[in-house]
Amino acid sequence: MTGRVTDPRSRRLIARQSDLRGDDPIFALNAEAARRSAAGEDVVNSTLGALLDEELRLATLGAVTEAYRRVPVERGAGYAPIGGPQAFLEAVLADLLGSSSQGSGNELARSAVAVATPGGTGALALAVSNFLEPGDSLLTSSYYWSPYGTIAAHAGRTLATFRMFAQSGRFDVEALGAALEQSGARQGRSLLFLNTPCHNPTGYSLDDQDWSALAGVLASAAARQELTVLLDLAYSRYGAGDPRDWVRHLAPLLGRATLLVAWSASKAFAQYGARVGACVAFEADARERERVRAALGASCRGTWSNCNHLGMLAITECLSDPELSARAERERGELCALLARRVELFTHLARGARLVHPRYAGGFFVTVFTPDAERTAEHLRTRGVFVVPVAGAVRVAICSTPLGAIPRLVEALAAGVRAAGG
Ligand SMILES: Cc1ncc(COP(=O)(O)O)c(C=O)c1O
Repeated sequence: MTGRVTDPRSRRLIARQSDLRGDDPIFALNAEAARRSAAGEDVVNSTLGALLDEELRLATLGAVTEAYRRVPVERGAGYAPIGGPQAFLEAVLADLLGSSSQGSGNELARSAVAVATPGGTGALALAVSNFLEPGDSLLTSSYYWSPYGTIAAHAGRTLATFRMFAQSGRFDVEALGAALEQSGARQGRSLLFLNTPCHNPTGYSLDDQDWSALAGVLASAAARQELTVLLDLAYSRYGAGDPRDWVRHLAPLLGRATLLVAWSASKAFAQYGARVGACVAFEADARERERVRAALGASCRGTWSNCNHLGMLAITECLSDPELSARAERERGELCALLARRVELFTHLARGARLVHPRYAGGFFVTVFTPDAERTAEHLRTRGVFVVPVAGAVRVAICSTPLGAIPRLVEALAAGVRAAGG
């Protein structure tokens, strides 16, 4: 006879996992938009972070399709090495630092270890479980990609934030400094996630002025605590500037802090479902570097084992075959141009509608400030327009909004912000 269930909430599921939402709120909003659209309603779905063309089809790169064709099926079908194929890791590093191997790039290249991860998400998870003690807080800006919180909580860590924008509208370096000091005092270490260039959800990128202020704050924190800085480069290929700009700004920290990069093929190669990514660690001390390599490898084995071999082989081909790599750059350039046209129209109309948003410098999203994000998003939904509420703003996925829908989107946003008292 089986035991009687008296409480529908069994204790077999551990307490920490018992009151969670299994679906990501963004995917849930996207599902509602899709359902209403399928029922015949004319909806504008600006929720999901995937680049769609003007006919709302997922934009892909022909170069990647060709790369997949070149991979022998029996190679792709076999297990990949746990840390990822060597050629893949080398190609990722060359992509990160450029092939010039000069100056700070060269210095970083000598101190790098890398493992393959399922997308950039895998790299974020490795960072949290290897560079924070259980119970410690991960630090990031007040606007952030919400899975940062999920990843921290899932690993038994928490998330702390600092105010992202100062009154001037610039990145609030002072607030970051104070937050680093606090977390250093509390836990003796900090792990900072910086998502730049092309921050999700704001579209902000650190510029030279931000970086130089940041460099001082990070150096001073590194002198007083164990500091790890993770750069999340998820959207870096969709910015206006040089995607390798970070190298000269962060390289001077080498030897004083551990630098991590979350590299991802999801957006860069429009391969969201392939789950191809890497965690690259830059560590000056050779013995510590080997410990980091072993720790990351053990985490891979203890979580997902190894990653999508076929995907990694195809992306390696795309990164290292000169003709394919040039083709991928060209095709991605067309996608960047499409995004730029949408953003230009959006910012033009938003100015007229007096919407307030951070300076957009690339990426898939813009964020519009509002005193009550939930109310604004709800008001928009009543008009068939879907955006994602975040604290103090709504996130607009310009990547999935065709040009023709932008006037309606801006009009709805203006009404939604007004409805929320803005
Ligand atoms: C800011 C940010 N970081 C990381 C990721 C990770 O994406 P993936 O795991 O597909 O590489 C995303 C995806 O949306 C993102 O928005």
